Amino acid sequence: MDIGILSVRDEKYPPNQRLMEAASQSGHRAKLIHTRDCLSEIEGGRLKLNIRGCERPDVLLPRIGATINDYALGVVRQFELSGVPVVNGSGAIFLARHKFLSLQALTAAGLPVPNTRLVVNPSGFHDAVKGLGGYPVVAKMPSSRQGSGVVRVDSPVISEFIMENLRDNSRGVLVQEYMAPEGRRDIRAFVVDGGVLGAMELRPNIGDFRSNIHLTGMGKGVTLDPDMSELAIRSARALGLEIAGTDILVDRQGSPKIIEVNYSPGFRGLEAATGLDIASRIIGYAVTKYGGRV
Ligand SMILES: Nc1ncnc2c1ncn2[C@@H]1O[C@H](COP(=O)(O)OP(=O)(O)O)[C@@H](O)[C@H]1O
Ligand SMILES: [Mg+2]
Repeated sequence: MDIGILSVRDEKYPPNQRLMEAASQSGHRAKLIHTRDCLSEIEGGRLKLNIRGCERPDVLLPRIGATINDYALGVVRQFELSGVPVVNGSGAIFLARHKFLSLQALTAAGLPVPNTRLVVNPSGFHDAVKGLGGYPVVAKMPSSRQGSGVVRVDSPVISEFIMENLRDNSRGVLVQEYMAPEGRRDIRAFVVDGGVLGAMELRPNIGDFRSNIHLTGMGKGVTLDPDMSELAIRSARALGLEIAGTDILVDRQGSPKIIEVNYSPGFRGLEAATGLDIASRIIGYAVTKYGGRV
């Protein structure tokens, strides 16, 4: 079976390398498809999908991080509507790429998330802080990743600075209750096909409150209790994600809060922490679920 990996990186990018290896080890062919090589066309009332340099794959894995833009989302949708099964699909990516849309969907599904407001100007930020019980709060860009768009805000001077210097204030900013890192547990659960494949616990560096693996470098493999697994699985389902990296923070009182669900989750850190072969499980899922349609 031909597995397309939609990416904006080349084959030397380690996650792409791992997925391609895993595909060929299981007797399938993986092709890296760059979004710029996909020509989405509508002609004579029909959708046409042309991919420069390759045939259409039997299944497509979009592997584009939070930087997925409207163009790339359009490409994913073109694959879907042209009859190529896509894991994860464009509707799920649309929700998951925006942190507030994700929290809306999680809340609507009855899942616990931190108190959060979406604001577009300094007075909105000010009201949000009041509503959340005062500083500190966390401000988040809706589509950031790897901790780079997440900041602790301690004073009105900083919140005004943020709101007045936004490059694009049409997207809004999330203002969220701050969950202090002391006594907190940060969990990343990797969900595939309604089950948790593996999980790790991460700790922020000293002086920071963000535990992203890109900042901390290492996680510790953990086995989740059934309640936590259930939260991770239900979060993925709430967004319609078949493959997901669910971030859960457990506060010092033991209450879990889902903070985001990643639609193109990294897996090398989890492989290092647990010894699991996540790449093969991703490929295995795509083949088993969609192989029959070929
Ligand atoms: N409300 C919060 N309170 C305290 N820490 C938080 C909060 N939200 C996120 N964090 C920390 O910041 C990290 C990054 O936040 P997250 O929402 O997952 O965005 P990103 O897409 O950058 O990973 C989290 O893994 C967690 O360690
Ligand atoms: Mg995260």
